[in-house]
Amino acid sequence: MKAPIAEVLVGREELAAKVEDLAAQISRDYEGKEILLVGVLKGAVFFMADLARRIDAPVALDFMAVSSYGSSTDSSGVVRILKDLDLEIEGRHVLIVEDIIDSGLTLSYLLKNLRSRKPASLEICALLTKPSRRRTEIPCKYVGFEIEDKFVVGYGLDLADHFRTLDFIGVLTPEAAAAIVDHEGSLL
Ligand code: IMP
Ligand code: MG
Repeated sequence: MKAPIAEVLVGREELAAKVEDLAAQISRDYEGKEILLVGVLKGAVFFMADLARRIDAPVALDFMAVSSYGSSTDSSGVVRILKDLDLEIEGRHVLIVEDIIDSGLTLSYLLKNLRSRKPASLEICALLTKPSRRRTEIPCKYVGFEIEDKFVVGYGLDLADHFRTLDFIGVLTPEAAAAIVDHEGSLL
């Protein structure tokens, strides 16, 4: 299937190189410690799978699923936990893995929530960030790419659950984006 992409923002090789970079940094910073990667479903799944396998330290994995009330492309800041962690995180070195920081409201909630469980440390690794959209300050230690204010899909990121499996980060054609929002509007 050829995806209706207007522009490729981050290509496959660039993604792989950045994942390698981030993994090297993380491996250095956590030397001698076990890391618990907490992936935010579903967008972070591909990034987390690639990152986890390149980190040269003992790594455990867990996942959370959250939904933020709001439209398909705008988050409201009200976050609901759909799936909580399986593991206790008290005393552990937790690294949240997220696909993208947009307004920052989802991560702001997650940080507060996870901090209350008393991890030994708590940091964030986000593949993408859109600084111009930020509505709250987020201390993100590891960032892949800063991008402009465009809605992107691929490498885990979706529009209404479509296009996650593209192996690059791209921007949809306006026609395709509009058609999906129209069609799925009632489900979002
Ligand atoms: P925030 O709470 O506004 O920071 O929203 C973060 C979440 O919104 C991300 O985890 C994504 O699921 C979603 N999101 C924000 N921007 C994009 C985008 O450009 N493409 C796909 N999903 C996005
Ligand atoms: Mg997400």
